[in-house]
Amino acid sequence: MDLGIFRYLCQAETRRLVSLLGVTIALILVLQFYELPNSEFLSSLTAKIKSFTMDTPLVNSTMETHNVNVNFNASNSSSISPQESSLGSVDGKDVNLTSQGNQSSLLAPQPMVPLPNTSFFDSKVFPKDGILSSLLSSNATIVKDASAIWKNSKRRPSKVVSISEMNLILQHSHGSSQGAKPASSSAVNVEILNAKSEIENAPIIMNDSRLYSPLYRNVSMFRRSYELMEKMLKVFVYPDGDTPIFHEPLLEGIYASEGWFMKSMEGNKQFTTRDPEKAHLFYIPFSSRLLQLTLYVRNSHKRSNLIEYMKNYVDVIAGKYPFWNRTNGTDHFVVACHDWAPAETRGRMLNCIRALCNADTEVGFKIGKDVSLPETYVRSVENPLKNIGGNPPSQRPILAFFAGGLHGYVRPMLIKLWENKEPDMKISGPLPHVRGNKNYIELMKSSRFCICARGHEVNSPRVVEAIFHECVPVIISDNFIPPLFEVLNWESFAVFIKEKHIAYLRDVLVSISEERYLEMHKRVKMVQEHFLWHHEPVKYDLFHMLLHSIWYNRVFYTS
Ligand SMILES: *[C@@H]1O[C@H](CO)[C@@H](O)[C@H](O)[C@H]1NC(C)=O
Ligand SMILES: *[C@@H]1O[C@H](CO)[C@@H](O)[C@H](O)[C@H]1NC(C)=O
Ligand SMILES: *[C@@H]1O[C@H](CO)[C@@H](O)[C@H](O)[C@H]1NC(C)=O
Ligand SMILES: *[C@@H]1O[C@H](CO)[C@@H](O)[C@H](O)[C@H]1NC(C)=O
Ligand SMILES: *[C@@H]1O[C@H](CO)[C@@H](O)[C@H](O)[C@H]1NC(C)=O
Ligand SMILES: *[C@@H]1O[C@H](CO)[C@@H](O)[C@H](O)[C@H]1NC(C)=O
Ligand SMILES: *[C@@H]1O[C@H](CO)[C@@H](O)[C@H](O)[C@H]1NC(C)=O
Ligand SMILES: *[C@@H]1O[C@H](CO)[C@@H](O)[C@H](O)[C@H]1NC(C)=O
Ligand SMILES: *[C@@H]1O[C@H](CO)[C@@H](O)[C@H](O)[C@H]1NC(C)=O
Ligand SMILES: *[C@@H]1O[C@H](CO)[C@@H](O)[C@H](O)[C@H]1NC(C)=O
Ligand SMILES: *[C@@H]1O[C@H](CO)[C@@H](O)[C@H](O)[C@H]1NC(C)=O
Repeated sequence: MDLGIFRYLCQAETRRLVSLLGVTIALILVLQFYELPNSEFLSSLTAKIKSFTMDTPLVNSTMETHNVNVNFNASNSSSISPQESSLGSVDGKDVNLTSQGNQSSLLAPQPMVPLPNTSFFDSKVFPKDGILSSLLSSNATIVKDASAIWKNSKRRPSKVVSISEMNLILQHSHGSSQGAKPASSSAVNVEILNAKSEIENAPIIMNDSRLYSPLYRNVSMFRRSYELMEKMLKVFVYPDGDTPIFHEPLLEGIYASEGWFMKSMEGNKQFTTRDPEKAHLFYIPFSSRLLQLTLYVRNSHKRSNLIEYMKNYVDVIAGKYPFWNRTNGTDHFVVACHDWAPAETRGRMLNCIRALCNADTEVGFKIGKDVSLPETYVRSVENPLKNIGGNPPSQRPILAFFAGGLHGYVRPMLIKLWENKEPDMKISGPLPHVRGNKNYIELMKSSRFCICARGHEVNSPRVVEAIFHECVPVIISDNFIPPLFEVLNWESFAVFIKEKHIAYLRDVLVSISEERYLEMHKRVKMVQEHFLWHHEPVKYDLFHMLLHSIWYNRVFYTS
């Protein structure tokens, strides 16, 4: 088997450099690279993997408490020949990583503000069928067992859509206004088309005092779109529907996002209108959690009555008002967090903009139309910001943290491969119960990376919990569209690892240089405001960001 060395040639428009460093899997070559905003890079990459043996942990990396020094101990690199030892370039110079090399120089401060992009882990770097060929920190038996879990899982997706593919789909589905005709020339449609054109021609912002541009796909467009939303958006909230399924927000627990949105929307003066002729959007205020609690017959394994209930509701509003038929529902939206919400909003409701926690391309989520709703675990309704924050990077001795139930097929692999393997990785099943979940929160606050591995469904409250505690999220959940995907540049502050590459978890994390980590940590702190609920919503908080994403997709979704 091959020993891996990766070579990245970086091509920066602005010549300043981008860069990278590598390290293998076996002989520990770790890569990182920096990117200038707007630069093109990574024109080529080659990966070769050479012999390494099954049960020798070849990667010896330790993380020192407090000082957070990554020590890449690659002392045994005898099988790297000199010409192979050049891993790429930093400032136009080749970088060596050999036993003779001064490794600390690889970790030395780099000149640029890095723009982390982790999607290169997506494809080329790993050998085919990663989990099988992973020989890193696990012995053969363990890798085989983990592989078996993977292979035998019936729920494993048939097709994996990478983050870069999702980006392309988004671009495509948002098309351009060139030649677009409004469905009708109603005043509202004309307003929407004008908004689209204004956003597309947004004044370029180099530096916004409030918004940190690397967090966004395009900060200029986001800011303009947000301003226009504040200025013009009107939402008609259907008064129809009985409590508790309609109009009754549940504010606590893991499905709380739909409740907080409902409470904030129904209580809002600025964005709601009683005159549906003025509305750009129509909100169907139902709770998928209360639908399940109210109508699901325990152990029946049947959801058809829930689906039927929602279908009847649409029939009622489509019969009573002209608005549904006018657009076939495309200017209507729902916000629903329960696992079953994708099924409950099937059929005619598929036309709506659906903000769903279960944002999975495998269950019909349409990128560019539907919105990925962050799953927020609200433990204290009185104070949803309780316990917010985390330690500074220097006080995060734990490299990676995960604790939780072992449902689904990914978490058992995670545990098998990584539980009790490395002292700086705290990977385990559920933690013993402690009042207020103190130990869990403490671990999130003292870890550099927090693993967000899918359970039964792709989504997990850990993504927002990690951001809440300023821990860089590591998302291991194929086909999960990360929250607020329309707007946020997720790859700049989170790490994405494909499920089949889970055995490379440590290598990926250790490959992230201190400098790049610090930048990611800073970004996680900066993006945090977008994931917070407030009893009185504030600018750029989660309520406004969700409403914005729904608005943005209403404006841009074509076809
Ligand atoms: C890794 O290196 C540390 C110190 O650098 C050492 O204590 C530890 O035993 C090493 N682990 C392995 C598996 O070689
Ligand atoms: C690297 O690991 C080897 C054993 O694998 C050990 O002898 C050596 O001291 C380590 N070097 C450093 C700098 O930790
Ligand atoms: C490196 O590994 C090879 C084979 O695994 C071994 O023969 C050699 O002594 C090791 N070198 C060092 C410096 O540890
Ligand atoms: C990389 O290492 C090789 C072999 O040790 C050496 O010939 C070459 O000059 C080194 N390159 C750099 C940029 O240090
Ligand atoms: C390695 O590089 C660092 C930073 O460039 C430097 O401070 C250190 O003295 C170097 N060590 C050796 C052994 O060359
Ligand atoms: C990240 O890198 C991939 C190439 O591996 C590239 O296609 C993608 O556009 C990059 N993403 C960003 C946000 O720069
Ligand atoms: C590999 O893992 C299995 C299962 O945990 C264990 O029984 C076995 O002793 C391990 N083998 C080695 C060589 O560590
Ligand atoms: C952001 O959008 C504006 C307006 O469409 C465009 O002119 C600009 O080039 C975009 N910036 C980036 C970095 O893509
Ligand atoms: C943009 O902001 C950064 C840091 O916030 C600052 O260093 C830089 O000078 C600013 N650039 C401009 C053009 O204002
Ligand atoms: C909308 O269309 C449905 C048939 O799809 C029809 O039953 C309903 O009466 C129509 N609504 C109105 C207000 O005309
Ligand atoms: C409305 O949507 C349904 C599918 O939900 C489709 O069958 C029907 O043709 C659409 N009608 C119009 C007028 O677009």
